[in-house]
Amino acid sequence: MSSLREHLWFHSAFMSLHRDQRDRDIFAASPLVDESASSGNIQRLRTRDQSILIHSLHSQSLQNSAHVWVRGQGAVLVDQDGKEYLDAISGLWNVILGHGRRELVDAAASQMSRLAYASGYTGSSNLPSIELGERLSELCYPSMGGFFFGTGGAEAVDAAVKTARWWWKLQSQGDKIAVIGRQYGYHGTGMVAMSATGLPAYWPMFEPRIPNFEIVESPYPYRFNAESHRRGKDDLRSPGIIAADLVEEAILRLGAGQVACVIAEPVQGAGGVIVPPDDYWPRLRAICTQHNVLLIADEIITGFGRTGDWFGLSRWNVEPDLVCFAKGITNGSIPLSGVGFRRDIADAIRSAEGRQTWMHAATCSGHPVACAVALATLDVLQSEGLLERVISLGERLRSGLASLESLSHVGQTRGVGLMAAVELVSDRSSRAEYRPEERIGPRVHAAAQARGMFSRLRGDVFNLAPCYVSTESQIDSIVEILGESIREVTGD
Ligand SMILES: Cc1ncc(COP(=O)(O)O)c(C=O)c1O
Repeated sequence: MSSLREHLWFHSAFMSLHRDQRDRDIFAASPLVDESASSGNIQRLRTRDQSILIHSLHSQSLQNSAHVWVRGQGAVLVDQDGKEYLDAISGLWNVILGHGRRELVDAAASQMSRLAYASGYTGSSNLPSIELGERLSELCYPSMGGFFFGTGGAEAVDAAVKTARWWWKLQSQGDKIAVIGRQYGYHGTGMVAMSATGLPAYWPMFEPRIPNFEIVESPYPYRFNAESHRRGKDDLRSPGIIAADLVEEAILRLGAGQVACVIAEPVQGAGGVIVPPDDYWPRLRAICTQHNVLLIADEIITGFGRTGDWFGLSRWNVEPDLVCFAKGITNGSIPLSGVGFRRDIADAIRSAEGRQTWMHAATCSGHPVACAVALATLDVLQSEGLLERVISLGERLRSGLASLESLSHVGQTRGVGLMAAVELVSDRSSRAEYRPEERIGPRVHAAAQARGMFSRLRGDVFNLAPCYVSTESQIDSIVEILGESIREVTGD
């Protein structure tokens, strides 16, 4: 970092870290805070961690240099070494309001002191879950007529896919069981979610995947080869229509009478912030309707403002039949996920009896504390006008990233709302990827961390999803740090 920018950045981080007494109270209340952090300390913590914990996507070599995060404020995370990092991925795309939100602490504490747990199984309910359902019915797609709550994203995906099969059995079409997902789609790592996920690295050591799950090509503007799918020289379809038609071809190949649902993220997130062409989603919606296939929108990243709308498909005037959400709904503070059901599907669940009963459940469904935190999250989103902020910060981020396209190994920068990606390539004219063993993405990530920024990658695609409360200068720092890190690694 240049020394002036370094000074400004640390000054703003310092100011945000010490905003007021109220925020200091949050830290003081945390048993994890260790103001006397030292490198001896961190090594001891890493050793303890490695000897007992198994992490998501566990890699022992990454654990050797793992951060042990101890606190956060706004868009800044602090690790056990006392080093501050700009959180350019909002935790895991979920800390949308920023870290250290007192409102959520208060909502959780107040609900916990009244009723910390109650069953959400049929025959029981609680006030925060009823209120959250009502709030979502105002904010989510108008066609949604009911909501089920769970705890994690993959669990929501599981509930949605099972509901699609349930729906067709109810219509006496029990052969409609197949599920279509897309390349680069990420839906989680449970067996159903993994089987619908189109990132092959997640599969090999857990295969076989669930039968009747089919993966089709992604509408990936930078890499989709529309020409290879043209049906002849009179085929004038746009790339977006061609990509959507590949889903139709899969439905016809499998037989429409065999297909239960298509599951897709409005904008593919973990797969590299892939924004489809504008004509893709309306065409995909029409295909699903025409062939009696349910459309599941996985909005676990795109829900709650990430794209600038409350939910991602509104951008294309499309509504799904089922919608999965999680992550941002509680600002990541407490696990909560869910599924929204088209009104007739919700009504069918309400009236099914006996053998047809929707036998899906979770111990923590409608968890009162999680629902209370979700309500507080929605309050902050609305009272602070954060969807508008997503739009303005997103424009700033994308225009900053566009300036990196002058670097010879930046193949493309892209994004929508406050999610963006920078795709690095070994050769810009051919769009050739680097060889994986060159580890360009991880090296850029390491260089960015050395400069005080943390994010996530898919190979050599650098994903960005800043907190909605990031300051303008923090957005500029993300661009600057990423540019410097790319230059350092690629030698540009
Ligand atoms: C689009 C999408 N769907 C599903 C999931 C899985 O959520 P979880 O990790 O809570 O199971 C994720 C997680 O990143 C996601 O991004």
